[in-house]
Amino acid sequence: MKGRFITFEGGEGCGKSTQIKLLYEYLKRKDKDIVLTKEPGGTDIGLELRRILVEGEVSKLDASAEALLFFADRRIHLVQKVWPALAQGCWVLSDRFADSTMAYQYYAYHERLSKTDLDMLYRFAVGDFKPDLTLILDLDPQIGLARSFKKAEGMAQKELRNESRALEWHQRLRQGFLQIAQAEPQRCVVLDANQSIEALHADVVRTVSERFKI
Ligand code: TMP
Repeated sequence: MKGRFITFEGGEGCGKSTQIKLLYEYLKRKDKDIVLTKEPGGTDIGLELRRILVEGEVSKLDASAEALLFFADRRIHLVQKVWPALAQGCWVLSDRFADSTMAYQYYAYHERLSKTDLDMLYRFAVGDFKPDLTLILDLDPQIGLARSFKKAEGMAQKELRNESRALEWHQRLRQGFLQIAQAEPQRCVVLDANQSIEALHADVVRTVSERFKI
C-alpha cells in the first residue's frame, strides 16, 4: 500500500472533527489525493450501525455487543473504502479507528472485557494493518462534554449516548487514550486539545510534516 493512513482519536468534544477537516484542507493545498472518513459510519452500512451505536439509551448494549458492532463497522470501512484508497496512493484521514474501541469498550468500561479478546477481534477484523500515525487529542472531559452538549442543542438527531455517562467514565476514557499512546509512542502522538483551533491545527500540521517529511 502506497498511501498513508492517519487517524484522529480522543474523548467527546475534543475537536477531532474540526481538526481533521483542517488537515484535509491543508493536505489538499499540498496536492495530495485524500480521503476524509470516519468510524463509525464511513460507509452506507456503517451509517446504519452508527445510528444504533450512538443514539438512544446507554444501557441498550453492553461492552461486548458494542465491540462486535464497532469491529463490524470497521471491517466494512476497511474493505470498502480505506484499503482501496490506500492502494491507489491516497492519504486516508479517519475520524476514529480501533484505539477508540480499546479506550471506550475496554478502559472506560473499567476493563470488563479482556484486552486479549479485543486484540483477537482486531486480528480477525483488521489483521496486521495499523495506522501510520495516530493523533490523540487530549482534553479534560468536563470541557469536552460541555462542548458536546452545546453542539447537540440545535440538532434533531441527538448522538449523545456516550455523553450521558458519568464523569468518571470519561476520565477513565481519557486515561485509556493516554495509556495507548504510552504503549505505542512511534505510532501515537498526544496533542493538547485545550487550546485555540488555530494553535491546535499548527500542532497537527507540525506533527504530520515532521513524520512524513512534507
Ligand atoms: P464520534 O461522534 O465522536 O465520531 O463517535 C461516535 C461515538 O462512538 C463516540 O461516543 C465514540 C464511540 N466509539 C466507541 O465507543 N468505540 C469505537 O470503536 C468507535 C469508533 C467509536
